[in-house]
Amino acid sequence: MQNPVVDAESFALPEDTEDRVIAPEAQLGEQYDLSLRPERLQDYIGQTEIKENLEVFIGAAKKRGHALDHVLLSGPPGLGKTTLANIFAREMEVQLRSTSGPVIERQGDLAAILTNLEPGSILFIDEIHRMNRVVEEVLYGAMEDFTLDIIIGEGPGARTVKIDLPHFTLVGATTRAGLLSSPLRDRFGIQFRLNFYEPEELKTIVLRAAALLGIEIMEEASLELGRRARGTPRIANRLLKRCRDFADMETAGIITLTLVENSLAKMRIDLEGLDQMDRHILETIIEKFNGGPVGLNTLSAAVSEEKDTIEDVYEPFLLLKGFLQRTPRGRIATKLAYEHFGISTPPESQANFF
Ligand SMILES: Nc1ncnc2c1ncn2[C@@H]1O[C@H](COP(=O)(O)OP(=O)(O)OP(=O)(O)O)[C@@H](O)[C@H]1O
Ligand SMILES: [Mg+2]
Repeated sequence: MQNPVVDAESFALPEDTEDRVIAPEAQLGEQYDLSLRPERLQDYIGQTEIKENLEVFIGAAKKRGHALDHVLLSGPPGLGKTTLANIFAREMEVQLRSTSGPVIERQGDLAAILTNLEPGSILFIDEIHRMNRVVEEVLYGAMEDFTLDIIIGEGPGARTVKIDLPHFTLVGATTRAGLLSSPLRDRFGIQFRLNFYEPEELKTIVLRAAALLGIEIMEEASLELGRRARGTPRIANRLLKRCRDFADMETAGIITLTLVENSLAKMRIDLEGLDQMDRHILETIIEKFNGGPVGLNTLSAAVSEEKDTIEDVYEPFLLLKGFLQRTPRGRIATKLAYEHFGISTPPESQANFF
């Protein structure tokens, strides 16, 4: 495909773009998250298959002295995409620049970022599915041939200049790979979909975080947190911190199984790890729509939550748990969901369970 052309005027804006590139620290906001984030691949818990493959890809790239191929990371929030991007930079021993799709407003912004990269460095673009399509086109040539075309001058005298870019690795993160245009998706040589974590893996993450934060926690308590954390490290770490609050106020600072159970009950997190919104979604489908099927728009209005948030944050876990099904006619609450709430399944909705 032909490289897109960037006009010189919008291209020459390095100072302007400087503050659009977000430093990793600023992007995260959460101080805790930073201190808990594993820095090396060997400390990254779970996602075994991805890790094994990455060890090979990173090792081979280093051995050849080449930049790592472009990597696309997809999966629900909080599973460790940003963490992995940071790990790539450390393992490859290269510089990391971080930005996010929606903040790159013009082609020139992206062109300025690309031309300022050090050879071999990693450019991390979070929420890459939210990048403007016109801006995105700049990436095609940059990713494929490490070149950029810019126009100098105007009107009949205008000419195109091809600029060589340093070889770099683009790491894109998205909660939904399906929203990426296929020309962009096809240019990622390495594509990983992160899966929800198993309770045992989350237990290890909780124990690691507890050690780093100086929190005393019993082993069975950490497993219980792992079971109730929606398969998500970020949630596991968050629940740990909230339990610490309860422990500090109630039981001389030690987190026991009973303390976890009581604290989670107070935070309205149930035995399956569902939170209030998870339950609200399922109960709405069951009570207002007779178990479904109900369309996403209708459901979104009924539970007062954004469609995107329902799709990105809530549904993946409810689908994994088998409480929800997606069908061409809409969302359906499954028999398991009825059982979870102790509601008997209405005879007329039996046909929905297949
Ligand atoms: N494999 C892991 N091992 C240990 N801790 C992890 C792992 N994955 C994630 N975490 C912890 O979970 C937190 C959230 O991870 P991260 O910010 O990388 O998620 P994300 O996938 O980028 O989420 P989002 O889609 O919201 O940007 C991290 O700060 C880290 O402490
Ligand atoms: Mg992230």
